[in-house]
Amino acid sequence: MGHLVSPSILEADFGNLARDILLINKSIADWIHCDIMDGVFVPNISFGFPVIEHVKKIAKKPLDVHLMIMDPDRYLTRFREAGADILTVQYEACVHLQRTVTEIRKLGMKAGIAINPHTPVMLLKNILQYIDMVLIMTVNPGFGGQSFIMESYNKIAELRKMIDEGGYNVLIEVDGGIDTKNARKLIETGVNVLVAGNTVFNSKDPVETIRRLKRLK
Ligand code: DX5
Ligand code: ZN
Repeated sequence: MGHLVSPSILEADFGNLARDILLINKSIADWIHCDIMDGVFVPNISFGFPVIEHVKKIAKKPLDVHLMIMDPDRYLTRFREAGADILTVQYEACVHLQRTVTEIRKLGMKAGIAINPHTPVMLLKNILQYIDMVLIMTVNPGFGGQSFIMESYNKIAELRKMIDEGGYNVLIEVDGGIDTKNARKLIETGVNVLVAGNTVFNSKDPVETIRRLKRLK
């Protein structure tokens, strides 16, 4: 399987959100990445259920919803109802993580776990069997347009090894500072899903930029 591209709408034009979703529809993007921030887990607030519902109505791609919120268990059902297909929670925000990811799957979504730049991948060893995806944060979460943290390559390589040696069916997604220059090396290191906000929406031709992230020639 080739790698997937999930444009992050955090960098879309919220005054013209429908237009930007239609643009992703017509591109060869695989998923649509939706960043939910609560102002507590991260020092920023993004958007909530009404926006996801609106996106879901027009999106022709699965919604890849990334929760940067404390205590996500309170809202899993509501994210499902709003239209999430893949639901990713932050490792650092969950006390009973195995219960949380099991509940996400029970609700009919794919379950992902995101880890912050300081969180070692080794901590995922005993939970990989219960999940569909690990999101390695390659910036500190909260804002689009930040610089990629180079140590991420070591984390990706280490996680790739853990997944392959254990025979787990788990995707590796990266999020933060991804562009057309580092994308190839990321895929070669073992990444399956590229998230890109700034690179896509602040480019002249987002559809073409998505094509370039997908076909890394
Ligand atoms: C950051 C978010 C990202 C963000 C990435 O906290 O989780 O999804 O939109 O934005 P770029 O690609 O601009 O770094
Ligand atoms: Zn994200």
